[in-house]
Amino acid sequence: MEVYFDNAATSYPKPPSVYEAINFTLQHVGANPGRGEHSLSQSANRIIFKARETIAEFFNIPNSRNIVFTSNGTEAINLALKGFLKPGDHGIISSMEHNSVVRPLNSLKNDGVNVTIVQCDKEGKLNPDYVFKEIKKNTRLIVLTHASNVTGTILPVEEIGEIAAKKGIPLLVDAAQTAGTIPIDVLRNNISLLACPGHKSLLGPQGTGFLYICEGFNLKPLIEGGTGSNSELSEQPDFLPDRFQSGTLNTPGIAGLKAGIEFINKKSIQTIKEHEDMLSKTFINKLKEINRVRIYGPLSIKEKTAVVSFNIKGKDSADIATALDEKYQIMVRVGLHCSPHAHKTIGTFPDGTIRVSFSIFNTVHEIDYFIDSLKVILN
Ligand SMILES: Cc1ncc(COP(=O)(O)O)c(C=O)c1O
Repeated sequence: MEVYFDNAATSYPKPPSVYEAINFTLQHVGANPGRGEHSLSQSANRIIFKARETIAEFFNIPNSRNIVFTSNGTEAINLALKGFLKPGDHGIISSMEHNSVVRPLNSLKNDGVNVTIVQCDKEGKLNPDYVFKEIKKNTRLIVLTHASNVTGTILPVEEIGEIAAKKGIPLLVDAAQTAGTIPIDVLRNNISLLACPGHKSLLGPQGTGFLYICEGFNLKPLIEGGTGSNSELSEQPDFLPDRFQSGTLNTPGIAGLKAGIEFINKKSIQTIKEHEDMLSKTFINKLKEINRVRIYGPLSIKEKTAVVSFNIKGKDSADIATALDEKYQIMVRVGLHCSPHAHKTIGTFPDGTIRVSFSIFNTVHEIDYFIDSLKVILN
């Protein structure tokens, strides 16, 4: 049997309704949304609008025009960071951030942006007081991953949101590992910018993502032209979402993303989280029984998403992952997972870990197969 345990990279499989929505849009609504008055273009436009409305409702976003579609989470984060921070600005991030945050900030450093990395503990947990202490006069942005893609550790977005609101500093949340499994309310959590891939727990296809930009937020577009609106002008439109949405949209993908969120709504986010928690708990308990296993991050299910990172003392993680794939068709991710700072934080740099990550479609039977296969490989 084939077992896919790499859902933190991208979820697979998708719900059947997602494949249907993509196929239907490709075959029957093939026109360019927002590039014509004809009826098929209007139909495509309606798909985009409804997808935006579905996302807005899911994250309690007051106005769906504040959602800008991107091709993934990285693009959304880049737009937020490079569109906002200017020379002389200071930003605060945690030590569990993904390279999608760290790399654009690193290149912004060359333009005079200063960045403080607040250290998390060995389990990847962040003390909000440490963030508070690092706030300076010129702090313009706090950036936080909602959960680590290495350990699954959930970071205190609510507390940091309160601090950010009190200090009048915008908060950018990277929800790559939580959107679709942990409820997010941009108003209640004081989130000014929310970056989400559509292809992970939101269950949409690859090539989808979005950035929520709160009302009145002054962001500079990174790409201009081709909005289908204000064609008489040489300047980029000044209204949302067109200001940040240049070029033909991925209508089939966005239709799939909408179907993914509708699947979550139908099942309920709580049911999905409970299923994934049950899988994580079962997996951790069985893994703990294996000799010389070291699991990283919190073991308490309440404190994590369905991501488990581990190593086995004296064994090469890459060899284990290769054997799992080649001999047993079990797909896991090994290495640094694009998050070297997170691995430095938990003490697994530069070798990294074996990472297993579950979705609503994984089963206990698959976990049993994994554990049995791992035992054979280790013997
Ligand atoms: C925490 C985190 N942030 C950002 C990203 C980037 O998302 P994408 O692959 O959609 O660009 C990922 C993807 O793995 C992630 O795990």
